[in-house]
Amino acid sequence: MNIQLLNKNITDIEAQVIVTFLTKDELKEHKEFTLLNNAGFTAEQDSKCFLYEKATIYCGIDSKNSDDVRSASAVMIKALKASNYTSAKLDVVSIATITAIVEGVVLGGYEFNQYKSKPKKTTLENISLCCNDSNFEIMQKTFKEALIVANATCFTRDIVNTAPQEMHPQSMVELAKKLASDNSLECDILQEKELEEEDMGAMLAVGRASVHGSALIHLSYKPANPKKIISLVGKGLTYDSGGLSLKPATSMVTMKMDKAGACAVMGMIKAASELKLDVEIHAFIGAVENMVGGNAYKPDDILVSRSGTTIEVRNTDAEGRLVLADVLTYAQDKVKADYIFDFATLTGACMVALGQYTTGIMGHSKKVKHDFLKAGTKSGELVGSLPFNRHLKKLLKSEIADISNVSSKPYGGAITAGLFLDKFIQDDMKDKWMHFDIAGSAYTEAPWDCNVHGATGAGVRMVSHYLKNI
Ligand code: BES
Ligand code: ZN
Ligand code: ZN
Repeated sequence: MNIQLLNKNITDIEAQVIVTFLTKDELKEHKEFTLLNNAGFTAEQDSKCFLYEKATIYCGIDSKNSDDVRSASAVMIKALKASNYTSAKLDVVSIATITAIVEGVVLGGYEFNQYKSKPKKTTLENISLCCNDSNFEIMQKTFKEALIVANATCFTRDIVNTAPQEMHPQSMVELAKKLASDNSLECDILQEKELEEEDMGAMLAVGRASVHGSALIHLSYKPANPKKIISLVGKGLTYDSGGLSLKPATSMVTMKMDKAGACAVMGMIKAASELKLDVEIHAFIGAVENMVGGNAYKPDDILVSRSGTTIEVRNTDAEGRLVLADVLTYAQDKVKADYIFDFATLTGACMVALGQYTTGIMGHSKKVKHDFLKAGTKSGELVGSLPFNRHLKKLLKSEIADISNVSSKPYGGAITAGLFLDKFIQDDMKDKWMHFDIAGSAYTEAPWDCNVHGATGAGVRMVSHYLKNI
């Protein structure tokens, strides 16, 4: 399906269907009020009404703000895809609306059909956005940028949705190499032998029982005169069975999503390179599979991390933080970045704290936190800040090693996981680091906003927005 922006009046464009967004107030004044009212349409947000005889689909919105338009556009595109029409057109009035419609259409109309032997066919070929405006050039730039970011989000979703038998650490390596060659990025891979030479004892322990070798992937995008250097670190657990601290059967289902942090940072670097941002980006990914076996790492094991900090393993299901400990250390050793951000489906506790739609952000810098709360709101992603405190930090104390991989108390699990990572952030980087727990926001089993079943691509829109405005 193609989406295009045209510098024309809507009446001058050929299409089978017109899309009209209506607020409750607009509905009252509308010339088709009687027909719409008879059909039971009240312009409720996310409701729709197809008047076939008028070749128009009406979509209810609470207001003209981006969040409402994006969500209504997702409803609209699903209805159009379920019909037998081939083309539709709509008027766009503001720059903010363009981004919202592109996201609603591309992300709300996203389908992952790779494993369907008979995928549903849609006849829909073309969506035309019409804007006869003196600002057309700016609008076109906005349109192109929104499309890049939405497509990068779909790229992230595709990888997360890929089944774990297919997307294991070594296939993630191949995928990263292809992304690098397609987008002119540098790509450096560390296989297990190199990981041993680099003393990545924590990361290696997690992947030991897997038949697929663990790998660290380092992608970089280096424009000529970068304004800033940013390191992005992603948790790439291609499967999290829990290890010997095995997950219950029902909790294990969906754990292919435990690579969503890695997939998000790949989407972010793809978007940054296609937007040609003048920011140098380094993406570091720990690609590992957490399995069981005779050689599996065990509760009671003591791991020596790359930083030299020793870790008492008390739960092998708290594996993401072990991988990130080493990858964060490696990233800080290799690149002197202005900021370092990590993305991880790290804790179920983050969902308990914030709900399943919201990304939890943790860190020491008020400014960076503020910047991301803003970037979240502006990009349409939900973010909430979880505060560190020294009392929770004490709960990670180990009697026999430098730190335990789990807290001794059950509450505040997202924060104690963040505090575990903090142990591996070097002193001069403390104010430049932010941790993003995307455990809830990265994956959904029911559609919401412009998200459909499966991976959401959480983080990609927010970080692209942040990087564009840095
Ligand atoms: N990958 C999980 C976290 C997770 C849970 C992500 C649900 C998405 C949905 C992580 O590795 C994990 O298992 N964390 C444990 C930590 C606990 C053992 C301290 C958890 O959240 O239960
Ligand atoms: Zn786990
Ligand atoms: Zn995990």
